[in-house]
Amino acid sequence: MKKAFLILHLILLLSQLCCGIKWLALSQTPSSLHINKTQHCKVLPGLVNSQAQLCRSNLELMQTIIHAAREVKKTCQKTFTDMRWNCSSIDSPKYLPDLERGTREAAFVYALSAAAISHTIARACTSGDLKLCTCGPIPGEIPEPGYRWGGCADNLHFGLVVGSKFSDAPMKMKKKSGGSHANKLMHLHNSEVGRQALRDALVMKCKCHGVSGSCSIRTCWRGLQDLKEVAMDLKTKYLSATKVVHRPMGTRKQLVPKDIDVRPVRENELVYLQSSPDFCAKNDKLGSFGTQDRQCNKTSSGSDSCDLMCCGRGYNPYSEQLVERCHCKYHWCCYVTCKKCERTVERYVCK
Ligand SMILES: *[C@@H]1O[C@H](CO)[C@@H](O)[C@H](O)[C@H]1NC(C)=O
Ligand SMILES: *[C@@H]1O[C@H](CO)[C@@H](O)[C@H](O)[C@H]1NC(C)=O
Ligand SMILES: *[C@@H]1O[C@H](CO)[C@@H](O)[C@H](O)[C@H]1NC(C)=O
Repeated sequence: MKKAFLILHLILLLSQLCCGIKWLALSQTPSSLHINKTQHCKVLPGLVNSQAQLCRSNLELMQTIIHAAREVKKTCQKTFTDMRWNCSSIDSPKYLPDLERGTREAAFVYALSAAAISHTIARACTSGDLKLCTCGPIPGEIPEPGYRWGGCADNLHFGLVVGSKFSDAPMKMKKKSGGSHANKLMHLHNSEVGRQALRDALVMKCKCHGVSGSCSIRTCWRGLQDLKEVAMDLKTKYLSATKVVHRPMGTRKQLVPKDIDVRPVRENELVYLQSSPDFCAKNDKLGSFGTQDRQCNKTSSGSDSCDLMCCGRGYNPYSEQLVERCHCKYHWCCYVTCKKCERTVERYVCK
């Protein structure tokens, strides 16, 4: 336990950076740590006052929020494995300030973080991990013949209320420390886009009943799609994100699209203030790891193709041995035996 707290203090020092997604540093909390005393809230990394307050008043919730931080990291990196920017900056405190500059990448990370925290809380209600909440409400409408409401709906409403209270807290602070006004507006907007993507991911899920799987009756409930589906949706929005500027509109300054067409920012589009580098070369100041030694795909025509990934620098081949199951035989009754086969595949990494 003592050691876990020592590690925490270290992370705490590293994460004294800035701003709204500092709480993602929670993804590094040792899994041996059980938040069951209010003093624990003080040593958790990356929390602003109101988040620490939420921690103290609801210790049980923290375990879920730590889980959410881990999900953000994992899902972001999976979703961007085929891109030059592969979300490794999320891991690296030194690169976090870059995500606060208001780039397209920051837009994605904020949207995903907001979606993930509400997603995780909504699911924790369903699984019984949180005593504060239970299943979501049963839909008001009468189900179609052959269907009936049942099961346990994901409690999206609770997830959204509590999740946004936590994840938006840094942007709602009065103090200057949360970054510039423009950045806060950007982060709040993109967080809301993330939550909207989560609302869109609430779908009908059903289970069949009846004699030997005849499915004569179905029990249905509203359940959330997996976070990776939400992340794919947000990646599409990332690719078509809109550059905005901070301009007076009426009595206050707001974010408006930079290009000439005068229209307000749409509720379902991600917005950014600063253009990103091309992420080809390593540049610590710009938060770019560069793509040297990244794996690329010679036959792909997408963003993971060797041309695009390696920025025209070329690539080096190497071989990898794969061990696979093969020559499988079915034995009556009832098992399967397989042999192990080795296969060599060519892979490529960027120069
Ligand atoms: C808190 O968690 C620790 C570590 O898991 C455990 O040893 C301790 O008994 C818990 N304390 C309470 C009050 O539940
Ligand atoms: C992302 O890219 C960097 C370098 O470009 C590499 O070091 C890192 O392992 C990659 N991360 C993941 C999760 O693929
Ligand atoms: C490379 O891209 C092709 C075409 O998109 C795909 O079928 C293949 O699975 C990819 N290979 C690897 C190793 O990812």
